[in-house]
Amino acid sequence: MTIELQGLVQPDRVHKRVYTDPAIFELEMDRVFGQAWLYVGHESQVPKPGDYCTTRLGREPVVMVRHTDGQVHVMFNRCPHKGAKLVPDGSGSAGKFLRCLYHGWTFKCDGSLLSVPLRSGYECTALDLKDPQYGVRKVARVATYRGFVFASLSEDGPELKEFLGGAATSLDNFCDRAPEGEVEVAGGVQRVIQRNNWKIFFENLHDTIHAVATHESSWRAAKEEHEAMPAGTPKPFEVVIVDGNGEPLEFWEKLELKGYDHGHGFMEGIFVPPTDPVSLAYVASLEASQGAVRADEILRVNRHNTIVYPSCSPHTSFQQIRVIRPLSVDRTLVEIFSFRLKGAPEATFQRTLKYTNIVNSPSSNVMPDDLEAYNRVQEGLGSDGGDWVSMHRAAGRDQPLPGGRASNGNSEMPSRNMFAAWAGYMGVDTGAKTNELAGSVE
Ligand code: FES
Ligand SMILES: [Fe+2]
Repeated sequence: MTIELQGLVQPDRVHKRVYTDPAIFELEMDRVFGQAWLYVGHESQVPKPGDYCTTRLGREPVVMVRHTDGQVHVMFNRCPHKGAKLVPDGSGSAGKFLRCLYHGWTFKCDGSLLSVPLRSGYECTALDLKDPQYGVRKVARVATYRGFVFASLSEDGPELKEFLGGAATSLDNFCDRAPEGEVEVAGGVQRVIQRNNWKIFFENLHDTIHAVATHESSWRAAKEEHEAMPAGTPKPFEVVIVDGNGEPLEFWEKLELKGYDHGHGFMEGIFVPPTDPVSLAYVASLEASQGAVRADEILRVNRHNTIVYPSCSPHTSFQQIRVIRPLSVDRTLVEIFSFRLKGAPEATFQRTLKYTNIVNSPSSNVMPDDLEAYNRVQEGLGSDGGDWVSMHRAAGRDQPLPGGRASNGNSEMPSRNMFAAWAGYMGVDTGAKTNELAGSVE
């Protein structure tokens, strides 16, 4: 079946079919998720040899395992004998070997075949157990950036560092904020299945102007909560991170957005660095290890969500990564991991958990606002009420950057930038005549 994609992506608008057509979703799994570097997880999720955790890259179930030599491998979660999933979904320790539940074929933690029961039964057959194809198949490419493990299902394409481009600075800052320069996953994971296409979630990450409207009930409640406190009470952290959504449109306009090749980008931080005792104790711990000058340099990098397209969104100042796993054209799994800054006081980590619980948890006051908006978009796009999705806001006003572009905070540049990447992966000609969707300026 040929799927006609030409004409669906234009420089400043896209056709609703890219969010609703199951055939286009399948093609995305091949062409976008089959080519890009995708976030797998963090090395700290498999701290000891034999530790594993499973996930999916596009449609492919994979497992990340630490081998006895300390190296981390990412392999298809499929036994080469009859295809059973080699380890159950989730995480755990396989001990020294990965042993298939079905007939007991056993593999080293790098995936190479170690032993099979009834070996003699294979003598003089066409099956050669020394042939590497009877090991667990590895994904085409795996690379780590400061402990963050990425994999690509394709042999071809840019190296990880080149792929990340300007977004790599957010991962640097994520780690630099730790007094020991390293982070670790802690506190479990929250999982939310959203009833929307995965691209709608990504677009919302840098859609600043939705905040005041979509989150009105939660930011108003937070403001009222503070007003009810005795006069002069400093704003609690919980209030600061919720009532910030109620800033006027002029506030968001002044923020800077950056967009980079391959669809990445970041948004300037929206919170003024806090001066409460927890924050001050954390800053003191960073200064003690890095010196005041370097600590100041690190903390000046103030960012809200970063987009690492098409698989994750790190939040550097609150040490959280949201991982986006598309399930179908209108179902998306979002996994939320919190991280501990090694060497920072425990209260800093508790603040991270608080941010995750209050802002991103499905039982928070904020996330359900977004979920309701996503549902409405997905359902509305399925109607006959119109064909196009507008991305016109501030089109044609981007400032070129090395490897990308910048815009003010209320521009829809991030959506246009992601669709430029999408069109590239999908092989779609966008008809762009300006730098709106064409390559960036080097
Ligand atoms: S399917 Fe794994 S050993 Fe048979
Ligand atoms: Fe939101």
